[in-house]
Amino acid sequence: MSFVSVSNVWQKYGNRSILERVNVEIDEGEFISIVGASGCGKSTFLRMLLAQERPHKGEISIDGGVTAKEPNRERGVVFQKYSVFPHLSVRENLIAAESFDTAFGRLSGEKRKTAAERADAMLERIGLNHVADQYPASLSGGMQQRLAIGQAMTAKPRILLLDEPFGALDPGTRLQMHDFLLELRDETNMTVFMVTHDLQEGFKLGDRVLVFDKPRWDPHDPGMYGATITYDFDARDGGIPFQLKEDADVSA
Ligand SMILES: Nc1ncnc2c1ncn2[C@@H]1O[C@H](COP(=O)(O)OP(=O)(O)OP(=O)(O)O)[C@@H](O)[C@H]1O
Ligand SMILES: [Mg+2]
Repeated sequence: MSFVSVSNVWQKYGNRSILERVNVEIDEGEFISIVGASGCGKSTFLRMLLAQERPHKGEISIDGGVTAKEPNRERGVVFQKYSVFPHLSVRENLIAAESFDTAFGRLSGEKRKTAAERADAMLERIGLNHVADQYPASLSGGMQQRLAIGQAMTAKPRILLLDEPFGALDPGTRLQMHDFLLELRDETNMTVFMVTHDLQEGFKLGDRVLVFDKPRWDPHDPGMYGATITYDFDARDGGIPFQLKEDADVSA
């Protein structure tokens, strides 16, 4: 059985269909990029993988069971909007991410020292060591996003869910974060789901690129039908299929 199995999943809000007949099987360690038009249900799909919401119909199983509701060591998340703790300093945000598996989220003594050392190593990798003692509100959007990425990766989760994680970053930092994510993945064999509006990024990082789109459309009632996975591209060679270059606005 696959590591992540999505069988005939539908989602609707009120009488608006968002997703329909979503079926996909994912092996452990795969990097899945997700693209699709704004509003087609990509974040909704991630929320269902996180068990933050239940599908209207269908089943999602992860490692043979249903997913837990709270983030834990098994699962790291970077939301579309920044998701760091505002009342903790940059370093404390990373230490907090280490402590998911300890009772009451507190670390003491030796463990805290090790967590602090690991936090400092992570700060170095995400280029935030010079602002370790500042609070998130004093950082730029891109720096907060790097902190959120570092936080999600600190616990080396088995599944990492990334919702447009690099959107707020300048091109140079974005490339650094790509390298960092690929390195980390080599170290851990994480399974990654990453939503992106950048097709090139999707194909560069992903093993597969899933395209969400509406296969049917009622012009009189746009909420009638939902989106589904219309393409499942093998992206292991890193190249963008010629057909998509021609039609690159698929993720616009
Ligand atoms: N809790 C909710 N209640 C009602 N409607 C919702 C809810 N969450 C999302 N929607 C609607 O569902 C649709 C899909 O939203 P979603 O955020 O999943 O899209 P998306 O593909 O992530 O878009 P974007 O690329 O802009 O982030 C949108 O029309 C949105 O308004
Ligand atoms: Mg979204």
